[in-house]
Amino acid sequence: QISGLTLQSFLVFCAAFFLAFFLLKPRKNLPPYPAGRVPVLGHLLALGRAPPRKLTAWRRQYGDVFTFRMGMEDVVVLNGYTAVKDALVDRSELFASRPSFYLGDAMTGFGKGISMARWGSEFKQRKNFSTAVLKSLGMKVGTGSIEGKIREEASYLRNMIADGNGEPFDIYHAVCVAVANVICSMMMGNRYDYTDETFRGLTEAIRALGNLVGAAQIISVFPLLRFVPVVNRAAINALKDCSKVLNVLREEISRHRENLDRENPRDFLDFCLLEVEKQEKVEGLTEENVLYMAQDLFMAGIGTTTDTFMWSLLYMTVNPDIQNKVQQELDAVVGEGLPALSHRSQLPYVNACLLEVMRIRPVGPVAIPHATAETVKVGEYEIPKGTQVLPNVHSLHMDPAYWPDPDRFDPGRFLDAEGNVINKPESFMPFGGGRRVCLGEQLSRMELFLFFSTLLQSFTFQPPEGAPPPTTDGDFGMTLRPHPFKLCAIPR
Ligand code: HEM
Repeated sequence: QISGLTLQSFLVFCAAFFLAFFLLKPRKNLPPYPAGRVPVLGHLLALGRAPPRKLTAWRRQYGDVFTFRMGMEDVVVLNGYTAVKDALVDRSELFASRPSFYLGDAMTGFGKGISMARWGSEFKQRKNFSTAVLKSLGMKVGTGSIEGKIREEASYLRNMIADGNGEPFDIYHAVCVAVANVICSMMMGNRYDYTDETFRGLTEAIRALGNLVGAAQIISVFPLLRFVPVVNRAAINALKDCSKVLNVLREEISRHRENLDRENPRDFLDFCLLEVEKQEKVEGLTEENVLYMAQDLFMAGIGTTTDTFMWSLLYMTVNPDIQNKVQQELDAVVGEGLPALSHRSQLPYVNACLLEVMRIRPVGPVAIPHATAETVKVGEYEIPKGTQVLPNVHSLHMDPAYWPDPDRFDPGRFLDAEGNVINKPESFMPFGGGRRVCLGEQLSRMELFLFFSTLLQSFTFQPPEGAPPPTTDGDFGMTLRPHPFKLCAIPR
């Protein structure tokens, strides 16, 4: 009797508590939800295997701004140029935070770097400082310049591909190593040999992290699932991959601290360590921050640039006429020597091809999730502080109002009537924009241009004989990457 009463009062208490909770909870005036929401999972199943495509399809039904449920969390999606530009550029600071994201936070030292840091003065100072350092490293001229390092790496890559003698091969690893080497040279002043074991381990760890799907990603939506063994194992593996990168960076930081030449900083780590020593330094900057900032450059810079470059080779392979036009332009302007940045303004068709690659296959189709830094009004809706916001870049790049027949690969879209490159096209944001714009935009544009021109000058890329052309569908992991494919690089 007594235990029956206790149970009864317990149940009454719970019912009263939940009733009060839901009645007292402030009513949200969020944008509309698409149909198909189920308890606990929300819209997760409805998103399917290509979420940006589904979000773009929902735009046609529910308008530019809507909300979907990722598990138990509301996520506001912004679609189309007007809505995305409003949030990312015009009212950038209001949308410039990051949501909490269990695995992402754990991998980035809970916001000690840049990419996952919450909006605030420490983040602003760290980002401004890193931007300034990359800019000053980019302005160096001569042999130690970034351009010099990229050109050096482009010729290693070309030689390595030439060794393949036109046989079919998957060029991904070689490209990834070349891209990683550019970041290593800029960040810590050294490049690695293509066969170096530590380096191979690193690039493989980065590739594995890029493939981080399924069980490990599910943790971000349902953090409690990390206590389920199979999910936990995936998370532990991801964190192990991350710590491989961190260990190499820790060693580099202590090597740099020992050899620091205060009058002559050579690379990103030198600049950071000098700043850490200053009295009046970037707010709260410690060596721990430097570690995670360096990790950010590594993790955010390698997969994105490699995948974009792989897309560019893929689109050349499936469009031999366009490839031929690129080569004619290179032959006419560059001739036999190595392409340089000084050729860039004279190669509009090459530039237009790279822009079209980034339009049709942006490797960050929904950028990195943003969060509101305070409560924000969007039209008639009110989005509470801390709400996760996804800028759907895919919807901008596939908008037929700006890009007629958007699924067609057509570099001519980026050329004006005189054949000059259209520099700031509307509805095009492969690097995001505003306060959270990509830190490596200039670096990766340089790399893409020099790698692409160097390889296309030397080889014609084609599918292996008798094989169908590679598919232009992609895998949606952390980035939008091509399915693995083989091609033949025929020397010209
Ligand atoms: C952020 C694209 C290369 C470092 C981003 C974002 C995008 C992006 C879409 C998210 C912007 C947002 O949140 O709104 C790309 C593409 C690249 C590339 C397409 C190559 C083709 C690089 C490189 C580096 C880099 C080479 C480093 C050297 C970063 C960092 C962030 C970022 C640190 C976080 C910025 C922040 O949170 O404020 N990138 N990226 N990225 N990228 Fe890149």
